[in-house]
Amino acid sequence: MSSVSINEIRKDFPIFSVKENECLVYFDSAATSQRPQCVIDAVADFYKRNNANPLRGLYDLSQRATDDYESSRAAVAKFINAKRTEEIIFTRNASESLNLIAYTYGMQNINEGDEIIVSIMEHHSNILPWQMVCNAKKAKLVWLECDKETGIIPESEYSKITNKTKIVAITYVSNVLGTQNPVKQIAEIAHKNGAVIVVDGAQAVPHMKVDVQDIDADFLVFSGHKMLAPMGIGAVYGKIEILEKMNPFLRGGEMIEYVTRDGATFTEVPHKFEAGTVNASGAVGLKAACEYLSKIGFDYIHETEQSLTKLLFDGMKKIPHVHLIGNPDYSKHSGIVTFTIDDVHPHDIASLLDSEKIAIRAGHHCAQPLGSYLNVPATARASLYFYNTEDEVKIFLEKIAKIRSWSGYKD
Ligand code: ALA
Repeated sequence: MSSVSINEIRKDFPIFSVKENECLVYFDSAATSQRPQCVIDAVADFYKRNNANPLRGLYDLSQRATDDYESSRAAVAKFINAKRTEEIIFTRNASESLNLIAYTYGMQNINEGDEIIVSIMEHHSNILPWQMVCNAKKAKLVWLECDKETGIIPESEYSKITNKTKIVAITYVSNVLGTQNPVKQIAEIAHKNGAVIVVDGAQAVPHMKVDVQDIDADFLVFSGHKMLAPMGIGAVYGKIEILEKMNPFLRGGEMIEYVTRDGATFTEVPHKFEAGTVNASGAVGLKAACEYLSKIGFDYIHETEQSLTKLLFDGMKKIPHVHLIGNPDYSKHSGIVTFTIDDVHPHDIASLLDSEKIAIRAGHHCAQPLGSYLNVPATARASLYFYNTEDEVKIFLEKIAKIRSWSGYKD
C-alpha cells in the first residue's frame, strides 16, 4: 500500500481548494472524476511545448506531438497490460468505443438469427449500439438478469450463452449497483461457445487493476474522464488479430493508405480507426492520469474506497426511510451507493443536497432497463473515489438524515 496521506492527495486536486468550491462534497465521481494538477499540467505542457498536428507534419514540432501521442498509447497499453501498443485505439469516450465495435465488428460479424448477450445492468451505451446491430441484422438481443436483492447475476443465467451467441457485451462494474461481474469466467464461457466478449470497463479501470490478458477480453472500453484524465479521450482495447480484420469506423484524415476518385485503401491498426485530427492533448492527459493512478496504487485506492463505503453504508442503514439499492454487503459496491428516501423524489434529494454543497447524481443513471427491472425508475447515487474523506461522509450522513424534514415530513 502506498504511504501517501489523504491530505497530500487532496492537495493534488486543485478543485478542492479554490474559493468557489469551499466545503464542496463531491460524490459524483462515477459520472466524472476530478483531475489532479499533474494531469492539468501535462495538457498545458503539450500545448505550451509540443503542439502541432500529430501524425502528419514533416517537421520537428509535429514529430514531438506525434511522440507525445504515441507514448500515451504505450502508457495506456501498459496500464491495462495489453500485449501490444497497437491494440489501443483512442476514441472520445467509452460510448464512442462501444459504437466503434458495434458498427465495425458487430455489423461485419452478426447475421440473421445470431444472438448478442447483454446484462440487465448495462449502461445505455452498452445497449443501444447492440440494439442497432440486432435491428439491422435481424439478430436477437438476449438479457442476463441479476438477482434483485444482491445485484449479482446468478451462474444459471450464463446458460443463455450458447453457440448462437456471437458477442457478449457486459459491464465489468455496474454504474448503479456497483456489482463487479466475473468477466474472466464469462469470457471463458463466451469463448467456449465461439463468441467474443466486449467488456465495458468505464467504472472498473479507474478503480482496480484491469489486466486484459488475464481476463482474456477480446475488447475492453473505457473513458478517460472517469479516471482523472480530460474529457473527450477514451479507448478501445482490442486483440490485434480481431482489430486487423475490422473495417474502419469513421473515415477521413490520416487513416488512409491511398485514395483515388473511386475509393480508398486504409492504413494499419490502430490509425485506421482514428479519423481526423486526434485528441493528442487528451491522450497526454490520460497518460499522466495512468501514471498518477499507478503511483497512488490500486491497493490504496481499493482500501480507501472500501472503508469510506463501509462508513457511508453503515450510516445510511441507520437512517429511517432510506433504502439502499443492490447488495446488502457494502464491500460489493465498488464505492457506489444508490438509494431512495421514502416520499422524496431523487431529483429533490439531489437539489436539497446541492443547496448544502453536496454533489450527487439522481435519475435513471443511463440504465433505464435496470430501473424498470428493479422497479425503481429513479434513484439517488453517491459515488466515491480515493480523494474523498471520512469527514465528507459524515457531513453527507448528517444531511441525508434531514432530507425528509426539509421536505416537510415529521418523522
Ligand atoms: N455513466 C456516467 C454515470 O454513471 C455518466 O453517471
